[in-house]
Amino acid sequence: MLKGGFGKSVFANTLGGVLGDLRDHDVLVADLDPAGHLSTGLGYYTREDADALDLGDVLLDDTAPEEIIKHPGYGFDFVPSLNLETVTEDLARDSVMASDMRLKQDLVDPLLGDKYEYILFDIPGSRNKLVNNAVVAAPNAILPLKPVPEALNGMRETATKLVGEIRQHIDFEILAVVPNDLRARIDQQTKDRRLLEAMNTQEQFAAYLLAGRDGVDPDSGTIPDDVDVEAVLDNHIPPFARVTADEWDAIDAGEMAPPKVPIRHSAAFGDAYEDRKPVTAYDSECSQVRYFETLAKIIEQGGIQQ
Ligand SMILES: Nc1ncnc2c1ncn2[C@@H]1O[C@H](COP(=O)(O)OP(=O)(O)OP(=O)(O)O)[C@@H](O)[C@H]1O
Ligand SMILES: [Mg+2]
Repeated sequence: MLKGGFGKSVFANTLGGVLGDLRDHDVLVADLDPAGHLSTGLGYYTREDADALDLGDVLLDDTAPEEIIKHPGYGFDFVPSLNLETVTEDLARDSVMASDMRLKQDLVDPLLGDKYEYILFDIPGSRNKLVNNAVVAAPNAILPLKPVPEALNGMRETATKLVGEIRQHIDFEILAVVPNDLRARIDQQTKDRRLLEAMNTQEQFAAYLLAGRDGVDPDSGTIPDDVDVEAVLDNHIPPFARVTADEWDAIDAGEMAPPKVPIRHSAAFGDAYEDRKPVTAYDSECSQVRYFETLAKIIEQGGIQQ
């Protein structure tokens, strides 16, 4: 998401733990945000250190990726955020196309399928050269959305300015769009309901998900007549967060108990951060972890429906 604070870093951290620790895959997580929140949350200092080897040495020099990989010990390996402002500036000086391919060529291609089964990138909330590199290197995204008034605008920005554009060049998939940090009831007009109902019923939201595909205009919300909106939403919203139009009617008619849709607000995420661990290592009993297992399975099978 080209938007701060929706849960990108929490998702990268937790999915790293679920895929690597609970599901026993070989996993690398890389923090591509100069702010380094994920690195801090795993106990790595993110102060600038011009002498240390960093991602820039891998992308713009001959350093092997193994040399910058750390081992936090929570089931996944980790590339911390270090000197990324400089790395981004250096990439921007490079010729345009080549500079978007570097992360794929110098980090993903040598490691994926060989040393690691999965490589996850945590990106910043605004577009830069490293974000371009990330979408080329890992063209499969999980998008968290928080129930705040700017959520749908964040989705629009991401669809029009990133997804639509990148799909002109590569086959980019949104594996899942996931509501996060929910805590209100949904049988009343709460922020949670506004987000969940919009994403689960609006043709406009389907158009965001399909941005860049033939005949789709995410700005006006137009999608081709032969595309089934319900199927698009079924394919992008995990079953635990899917509430269909008929179900909203049933909830409002009092015929169906309003579900407590995940992913819920949980103090465990902040507490794990303070303890410098992913939530899987801090509190594997945390009730929300099982939904990240669902997301991990979606990652494993390459989408919601095989
Ligand atoms: N389900 C949740 N329950 C409780 N707190 C959460 C939840 N998800 C995220 N948070 C908290 O919300 C804040 C923002 O989350 P996070 O840092 O993951 O967002 P982000 O998208 O990475 O933001 P940025 O773009 O600034 O890096 C953090 O303090 C995090 O602990
Ligand atoms: Mg973050």
